[in-house]
Amino acid sequence: MNIVPTGQPVLSMSAVCKDFKFGSLIKRSVHHAVKNVDLTLRGREILGLVGESGSGKSTVGRMAIGLAKPTSGTITVLGDELEHLNKAEMRQKRRTMQMIFQDSSNSLNPRMSLHELLCEPLRVQGLYTREERDKRAILLADEVQLARKWLDRRPHEFSGGQRQRISIARALALEPELIVADEPVSALDVSVQATVLNLLKDIQEERKLSMVFISHDMAVVEFMSDNVAVLYNGSIVEYGPADSLFASPQNDYTKILLASTPTL
Ligand SMILES: Nc1ncnc2c1ncn2[C@@H]1O[C@H](COP(=O)(O)OP(=O)(O)O)[C@@H](O)[C@H]1O
Ligand SMILES: [Mg+2]
Repeated sequence: MNIVPTGQPVLSMSAVCKDFKFGSLIKRSVHHAVKNVDLTLRGREILGLVGESGSGKSTVGRMAIGLAKPTSGTITVLGDELEHLNKAEMRQKRRTMQMIFQDSSNSLNPRMSLHELLCEPLRVQGLYTREERDKRAILLADEVQLARKWLDRRPHEFSGGQRQRISIARALALEPELIVADEPVSALDVSVQATVLNLLKDIQEERKLSMVFISHDMAVVEFMSDNVAVLYNGSIVEYGPADSLFASPQNDYTKILLASTPTL
């Protein structure tokens, strides 16, 4: 594993824009979903992206790991400009960048056991021998605190929080260096949210990962993030260290978001 030293940029976005075109041939419109976003995520850091629904958080997150292409601007991940990678290089790169989504239960094959689900990312990539994958699946289950005796269970036998742990483990299987977690606890009961957040934070520290953490919930972002970018209508309106941003927000929109947030 090629873990980036603290302080080195893992992800940088420079003047990134994303337009979505819609409408008919006669009456076409453009929606500027992301406008001129500049941000930097350094090694072993968590960058929180916060903003209301539709502010462009997911689009920024998807572009960060090459799942969506910017209309303009530059995105660099671990030294490579994504735009300049060919298909094979992008496939290689994908392994180092993984996403955790809000609704994990939909993406887990209901017919697969926990063991199969944990082996699958490695199997698909043709990595390791079968025995080695089996061993790694067990260690992944341990890491996300799912009991080994549950390895034969299928997704429907797990709770929402446990299924999200499975998704986290699958994202970790390929040993990524950059993770984009898009509202990873928003679908969970409040009582379960804290345990999953603590787990994510422990794993991030243990594995020395860099993470973009997306949430509409200020309290959750404050708990998780080293730095925070506040998105409003596709633009970053405030950006800085979490401590100072939460202690003395400068932007009016940030203040409104904070005023309407109950504390964790
Ligand atoms: N594939 C798409 N096609 C058209 N419009 C989209 C697409 N994805 C997102 N949008 C629009 O871009 C804006 C930002 O969306 P999104 O990034 O999902 O915001 P958030 O994650 O903050 O809720 C929204 O207005 C949304 O409707
Ligand atoms: Mg979203």
